[in-house]
Amino acid sequence: MASRSRRPAHPPEAAAENLSVSRRAFLKTVGIGSVATAVVTPAVAQAQGAVKVVGPGEVPISLTINGKRYDLKVDPRVTLLDALRNRLDLTGVKRVCDRGSCGACTVIVEGRAVYSCSMLAIEAQGKPIRTVEGFSTGAALHPVQQAFCDRDALMCGFCTPGFVTATVALLEQHPSPTPEQARALLDGNICRCGTYVRVLEAAMNAKGVRRA
Ligand code: FES
Ligand code: FES
Repeated sequence: MASRSRRPAHPPEAAAENLSVSRRAFLKTVGIGSVATAVVTPAVAQAQGAVKVVGPGEVPISLTINGKRYDLKVDPRVTLLDALRNRLDLTGVKRVCDRGSCGACTVIVEGRAVYSCSMLAIEAQGKPIRTVEGFSTGAALHPVQQAFCDRDALMCGFCTPGFVTATVALLEQHPSPTPEQARALLDGNICRCGTYVRVLEAAMNAKGVRRA
């Protein structure tokens, strides 16, 4: 509110002059920016060695998922979610919103929980990726999976792989989170069945998750 009522420090004429100079400078800058934008096409950038242009057809990529290397070919526009589900049959990641707002597609990339629907598969090359399929060892559930079972932290279960993955990432970073930390770090996931209280209990009671 204070800034709205603040008067200019300069007299009106000086302020007008400053404004006109600023506007000219601004228009010049915009002009330069427009020219630059018009000239630096992907082909030009590639010729200058500034960027490497790939596609538009399929390109070979390799992904390291749950410690295993996968070689595949995808269009550069294919998301990590689509590559995992449709090309590699790793269907623990779920597609719900497909626009980075629900968390059903959460995976761990380089130790951080990310929405796989909002990352290109080619971007994920060279980075360790972990999905819910890689958490259990043999018949033993991961401590977070066990905690979700013990606390009955699911109803339809569609959001559960995303919540489990986000919780693993949370506990690997903060092995003893406060409820506020857990709530804050899991707030990128949505449960339409409303199991939030149980999910929080599971996150607070999962034991034995090692710090990443
Ligand atoms: S499907 Fe990726 S955030 Fe919803
Ligand atoms: S348990 Fe159904 S959406 Fe979360």
